[in-house]
Amino acid sequence: MAKSIDVELLNVQKKFGSNVVVDNFNLQVEKGECVSFLGPSGCGKTTTLNMIAGFLEPDQGDLLIKGKRMNGVPSNKRDLGMVFQTYSLFPHMTVAENVGYGLKLRKVAKAEIAERVGKVLELVKLPHVADRYPKQLSGGQRQRIAIARALVTEPSLLLLDEPLSNLDAKLREELRDELKRLQQEIGVTTIFVTHDQEEALYLSSRIVVLDHGKVEQIGTPWEIYNRPASEFVHTFIGKSNRMQGVVEQVQGDTLVLKTASGFTLQAPSRERRFSIGEPVSIYVRPEKIHLQTADARAESNNEMQGRVKLTSFLGAYTECEVEVGHDVLTFRIETAEQEASLAAGQTVNLNWKSEDVFVFSGQVKEQ
Ligand SMILES: Nc1ncnc2c1ncn2[C@@H]1O[C@H](COP(=O)(O)OP(=O)(O)O)[C@@H](O)[C@H]1O
Ligand SMILES: [Mg+2]
Repeated sequence: MAKSIDVELLNVQKKFGSNVVVDNFNLQVEKGECVSFLGPSGCGKTTTLNMIAGFLEPDQGDLLIKGKRMNGVPSNKRDLGMVFQTYSLFPHMTVAENVGYGLKLRKVAKAEIAERVGKVLELVKLPHVADRYPKQLSGGQRQRIAIARALVTEPSLLLLDEPLSNLDAKLREELRDELKRLQQEIGVTTIFVTHDQEEALYLSSRIVVLDHGKVEQIGTPWEIYNRPASEFVHTFIGKSNRMQGVVEQVQGDTLVLKTASGFTLQAPSRERRFSIGEPVSIYVRPEKIHLQTADARAESNNEMQGRVKLTSFLGAYTECEVEVGHDVLTFRIETAEQEASLAAGQTVNLNWKSEDVFVFSGQVKEQ
């Protein structure tokens, strides 16, 4: 059976004046999926979400919800629930009144409203705050209530615009877990806007990475992390060490690179075309770099010698910075194995597998 598509964007474009802020956006969201829009501030996430919500109209392209063209259809006819970054609860209404408001507008009977509000407050684990006013709740509780209010009408689509960004770190993580649980329990098709890559990786079935109004990549969290379509995607998601270099040789799918610090490396070309002498940016993620041991050496074909600059104990692991010529490489060692074994100034040998190297055309862009 064909998968059912809940949301579809076809060549959607939005301009403000002459400024194109969303360009040629194409996406299909399947029923039950949680898709994130991820990108830096100003890349067009909210604008796109607002077009799906019906708060803004696209200048070009089509927007479909459950196969029906939605261009020009008002927001309240789109069967959505929305949650925003700032707490948008009505201050003069109790929690129960806030949550039940959408049902009241739909002229649902009082007894049914009470029952459904009760159920959804159970779902967000806050049944005991029904009679309180928003100002009597913590930030995290208010966002849970906002989520309850979005869910109470059982919308076919849940739209969340940075709902966790105003919370402190611990609460943000808690509510993130909660959102994932809720999304899986209810199975509601969800679009989640965030600038936080970890949130996107954690919550999404697929991620749309945006930069300057353009879709850079659409993929599962695994694909986005391990098969980045561009330098932007690779550097925006997760940490990565970068070095400058040039291509010395192209041998089939393998590149031989010379770094600016004079080291020779091998890397896969990943179906990109490179020419000899071409300047490139070379990336290796911290978790792929190993301290040289007899075992690791056998597997790796990229090695560098450097000098320890800094070590930082972070509980589960120790982060080390090593100076290698002009470059500084960061990597991690598991604390338990290597306690206090590295000190600043010490010379170390590092290695990694060529398959863990990513190469992109052009010199490193300074941010
Ligand atoms: N109403 C508006 N009028 C003019 N420019 C806008 C308006 N809303 C957003 N923009 C611009 O559009 C771009 C994308 O904004 P937005 O979608 O809010 O980004 P994000 O949510 O990814 O941070 C930004 O450059 C922003 O300044
Ligand atoms: Mg935004």
